[in-house]
Amino acid sequence: MRTTLLTWSLLLSVAVMLALPSISRAQLTTEDIASRDNMESHVAGYTGHVHDAAYDYRRYCVGCHGEMGDGNGEVAQWLEPPMWPKPRDFQLGIFKCRSTPTGTLPTDDDLFDTIARGLDRSAMPIWNQFTKYQRANLVAYVKHFSPRFVSEKPGTPIVIPPEPEVTPERIKNGREVFARVQCWKCHGVQGMANGPSASTLTDDLGYKIVPFNFTDGTRPKCGDTDRDIYRIFMTGLDGTPMPSFADNIKPDEAWDLVFYLRTFMQQKSKAKEVAKTLSLKPVSANP
Ligand code: HEC
Ligand code: HEC
Repeated sequence: MRTTLLTWSLLLSVAVMLALPSISRAQLTTEDIASRDNMESHVAGYTGHVHDAAYDYRRYCVGCHGEMGDGNGEVAQWLEPPMWPKPRDFQLGIFKCRSTPTGTLPTDDDLFDTIARGLDRSAMPIWNQFTKYQRANLVAYVKHFSPRFVSEKPGTPIVIPPEPEVTPERIKNGREVFARVQCWKCHGVQGMANGPSASTLTDDLGYKIVPFNFTDGTRPKCGDTDRDIYRIFMTGLDGTPMPSFADNIKPDEAWDLVFYLRTFMQQKSKAKEVAKTLSLKPVSANP
């Protein structure tokens, strides 16, 4: 009898421990959230209002992101990272897809674009049925869950110089940058998401997360144009181990790196064509 009780209480405490994420989540009250009901967004020529998004949020978003915006909607329990990342906890005010430096808030435009684009390799759908006005209202709604949008301003978007012409030299230099700043530690020397650190990664909430596999034909979460890819590694995906390289990579080199990354990807590109003539070897994992 005593052993059974002990076993049960041990099992229970282990279960409780496993259920707790490694950093505690923001747990705001309904009153606190309601105090930001006057939050606005200014995007695409519209002023978005919280109350005008209430119906759409309840109908289209609440199932995953939850009544309180904490990512604990009914569906959340069925989403198992790393295959299925958990819905974003809007109370934390931390976002992956930003044009702004790491650690800063996204702009209204960033959130507006994200909602339409969806997040590849996650349950977050592409929302292309909304009008721009509906989306502007939803941006205000997302923001009103986090006190950060009252106490802080969004960061200043990073400057992306115009895209240069792809040349063999640029691709070769991009390969050097990939080796030097050690993207391969997570993404692997051939971009196949199998670097030495890949299997050890967790996000800031303690959930397992895997690096992007450049070779499997899927798309980067925050957009798949050359500019989007540039922005992703120069701003970082906040809340994840994918850092910002703004301090380690010069703007011109960043374009070279984009071209080199393109050579891994299935999608057609000029860089891929040019690389065919180069017979590039993968970078060394032991420089
Ligand atoms: C079926 C589940 C689901 C629904 C419904 C859903 N989302 Fe999401 N959403 C997610 C998941 C999962 C993530 C996190 C994905 C990731 O981290 O890769 C996410 C992330 C986000 C993000 C954060 C993006 C970033 O840069 O970090 C925003 C903003 C967002 N959702 C807005 C919305 C809005 C607005 C709606 C309703 C119109 C909505 N979502 C409906 C699952 C959902
Ligand atoms: C410490 C590990 C780590 C390092 C180093 C790293 N990444 Fe990542 N990267 C990740 C993880 C994890 C993700 C996936 C994030 C997600 O799914 O939300 C990612 C995602 C990406 C994405 C796509 C965004 C998406 O859809 O997931 C790009 C592009 C990218 N990384 C480029 C780079 C480049 C270029 C470098 C080097 C300059 C680099 N990464 C270095 C861990 C890393």
